[in-house]
Amino acid sequence: MARGSFLKREMLVTGGAGFIGSNFIRFAQRADPHIRIHNLDALTYAGSRENLVGLPDPDRHHLIQADICDQARVEELLRDKGIRSIVHFAAESHVDRSIAGPAPFIQTNIVGTFALLEAARRVWLEEAGFGPEEVRFHHVSTDEVYGSLGPEDPPLPETAPYSPNSPYAASKAASDHLVRAYAHTYGLPVTVSNCSNNYGPYQLPEKLIPLVIGNAVSGKSLPLYGDGRQVRDWLYVGDHCSALWRILQEGRPGLVYHIAGGNQPTNEELVRRICSLLDDHLPDSPHRPHEKLITHVQDRPGHDRRYALDTAKIESELGWIPSESMDSGLHKTVMWYLDHEDWIRAIERRPSFQAWLALNYGKREPSR
Ligand code: NAD
Ligand code: DAU
Repeated sequence: MARGSFLKREMLVTGGAGFIGSNFIRFAQRADPHIRIHNLDALTYAGSRENLVGLPDPDRHHLIQADICDQARVEELLRDKGIRSIVHFAAESHVDRSIAGPAPFIQTNIVGTFALLEAARRVWLEEAGFGPEEVRFHHVSTDEVYGSLGPEDPPLPETAPYSPNSPYAASKAASDHLVRAYAHTYGLPVTVSNCSNNYGPYQLPEKLIPLVIGNAVSGKSLPLYGDGRQVRDWLYVGDHCSALWRILQEGRPGLVYHIAGGNQPTNEELVRRICSLLDDHLPDSPHRPHEKLITHVQDRPGHDRRYALDTAKIESELGWIPSESMDSGLHKTVMWYLDHEDWIRAIERRPSFQAWLALNYGKREPSR
């Protein structure tokens, strides 16, 4: 069986109505005109049907509103639809929410990943006896599992020890370990990717970049946690999708790959760049210069200072490098949100979003 033949069959994408999942479905449909995608998504506060409007080929996409923790439902899908690959995005993804209330993170990120793994083991390995090139389980994970780096530490390779700090990071670390154990113990053909911070179209405005764009356009304050000198590595979401596609095509079962953009701005530098882009694109805005809206607020508890990943493995083994620079990706992103203000305002009007703003930002006073 040729490598990657599972890609020629039906694919299950979990969490495909969220930010990265919906971008990935668009990417996959453009990359392969035959692939059929079954999108299993519970449509939590973070998922929405609007993210799936205008797919390249809606007839090759099938949304199933269900919980990944429902193992029987997943088994039924794998059997009835002839699914041979799973790309697992579904998760509770927001660090601040994991601090405010960790329970759903444990349920979806750990118990949900376990249910998917069990379903795959039963249907693919026990019932059908598929071999390592006939099926694939790809687990989408994060750089946060490694914990915080110092300013001079080198980027971490795939062999670095785990040291998750937030409930979100701990729940993702637990799911990574379960995936590894299913590969080691049962021989489930898995690949894992740990990726840095994504940005781009369809990201919920609870996350830094869309929050800053949405607030700046309406003249609201731009909250920077603590001193704003925390460092994240930013990757345009389309580049994450292309990396995942490379891993599905060429990645070897059992391997872990790092994906990152190689950028290291501080949060404050990043927010100032966005403000300057908005100044250029909104010359008549009464809120120019937008950087005057920046407000330092109380820090996130346990806030990791810096993340940085070494991406030499995916570059040398799979020939992947990002195609967007921070400048080109930010420019595209700002333009997308300016062109889709209705999308961001519709989310902001949702009661679930209003409740979150009241809980999270209601108690954040300016710190200086
Ligand atoms: P998101 O919050 O935008 O989307 C998550 C999706 O999962 C939503 O559509 C939601 O409805 C769905 N979902 C949640 N719980 C579910 C459940 N129990 N059953 C079925 N569906 C459920 O998240 P995202 O930012 O697109 O992240 C996707 C994945 O990528 C996550 O696993 C996250 O840990 C990982 N990741 C994200 C980033 C980032 O910067 N956003 C970076 C690295 C890794
Ligand atoms: O590193 C990968 C992770 O990136 C993913 O695993 C997570 O799913 C994703 O949400 C993201 O986590 P972060 O916590 O880094 O993303 P967020 O956009 O919430 O915050 C980015 C940085 O900006 C972080 O240092 C906190 C800071 N921040 C965030 C918000 C929402 C602020 O200063 N102000 C804010 O209002």
